[in-house]
Amino acid sequence: MHHFEYLGGELHAEGVPLRAIADAVGTPFYCYSDATLSRHFKVFEDAFGDEDALIAYSVKSNSNVAVLRTLAKLGAGADVVSGGELARALKAGVPPEKIVFSGVGKTTEEMSEALSAGIYQFNVESEPELEALNATALSMDMRAPITFRVNPDVDAKTHTKISTGRGEDKFGIPWAHARAAFSLAGEMPGIDVKGVDVHIGSQITDLSPFENAFGKVAELVRDLRGDGHTIERLDLGGGLGIPYGAEKKPPLPSDYAAMVRKVAAPLGVRLVFEPGRMIVGNAGILVAKTLYVKDAAVRRFLILDAAMNDLIRPALYDAYHEIIPVQEPDTEARIAHDVVGPVCETGDTFARGRDLPPLSSGDLVAIMSAGAYGAVQSSEYNTRPLAPEVLVRGDAFSIIRPRPDVADMIDRDVIPNWL
Ligand code: LLP
Repeated sequence: MHHFEYLGGELHAEGVPLRAIADAVGTPFYCYSDATLSRHFKVFEDAFGDEDALIAYSVKSNSNVAVLRTLAKLGAGADVVSGGELARALKAGVPPEKIVFSGVGKTTEEMSEALSAGIYQFNVESEPELEALNATALSMDMRAPITFRVNPDVDAKTHTKISTGRGEDKFGIPWAHARAAFSLAGEMPGIDVKGVDVHIGSQITDLSPFENAFGKVAELVRDLRGDGHTIERLDLGGGLGIPYGAEKKPPLPSDYAAMVRKVAAPLGVRLVFEPGRMIVGNAGILVAKTLYVKDAAVRRFLILDAAMNDLIRPALYDAYHEIIPVQEPDTEARIAHDVVGPVCETGDTFARGRDLPPLSSGDLVAIMSAGAYGAVQSSEYNTRPLAPEVLVRGDAFSIIRPRPDVADMIDRDVIPNWL
């Protein structure tokens, strides 16, 4: 569910016509809906009722500080994976005691920053990382609260590039080493073991891989308690899929929550979640202008002013995004288009053979469900400025990241004085 709808024949974000935003900021641009963002956070929160769970929004999915502040005001925590994301979360007003730090490659500088900030937990992914964290904490006269991220060797049945819980993936402590790793951590004076963490992948549209992984983790919690560890938290990661339009319907947050409750309730732990896509995915769109319609030998190409540098998901994961015209079509006619951008690669394709109403130069289109892993994964490839981001609330909109100036982009390069 989202708040991008045709009103009077024109696509709106809440009460604002997208054409008005295009006139003000130019194209392409990202547009987010405050109402959708807030609704999705509340749907996830309500699914867990009055349970004292920490919902640590996964900052990597959309890290704009205005988006983070919107969620922080609703009570969200943050799941960060770098010092940069930590700084964003703190700037947005996320309380440090609601921040978890994930990732396989935390540097000791990042560890010190997070320790100084007083975050809730580090999700540790290897024994060498544990040793580095222990040494860093001791050098600061502190103890680092940790969970171990374990690798349950479960296939999440999602795209291979975003599957993280199989034995061959780089993430987490291998299942067979988990108990030994906890014993090692239990003896380190700079480490305070709090619990277990698991995250098996993203855009998961079936509950069964979650259930398998969480069931294995629940067994592990029992074993670890038997080994003498105090396990008070269980971080179940993110990964819940969203409807993009072409795939099987993802589970409802309420069904996900019921499954989680069944597995976790007997353990008496505080639950932590790291949802990203589920909160922000359908709360954002990428609006682009049609530059040209080109009838080539065998295909009709819709050439947009947005490209793979703005939204790389189709090129990287063959991801499906719905594409709709900003002006509501007044005809039933549909023509197959390959929707492409101006970047000089054949991979710069948003959709192939997509049935769309007839479009002409200047027509605006919206690429839907682009709020998660869209703007954050954009680049300046082909010296294209990053698309601006706009946040809509009711009848108002605000530019939350302006379009950079090309001259400023080029001025970041430095010509050595010998040239
Ligand atoms: N926690 C951890 C440790 C993660 O690695 C991720 C995502 C999340 C939480 C949030 O997962 P979500 O709820 O958003 O599924 N760029 C890819 C997705 C990469 C996901 C990376 N990790 C895409 O565009 O599909």
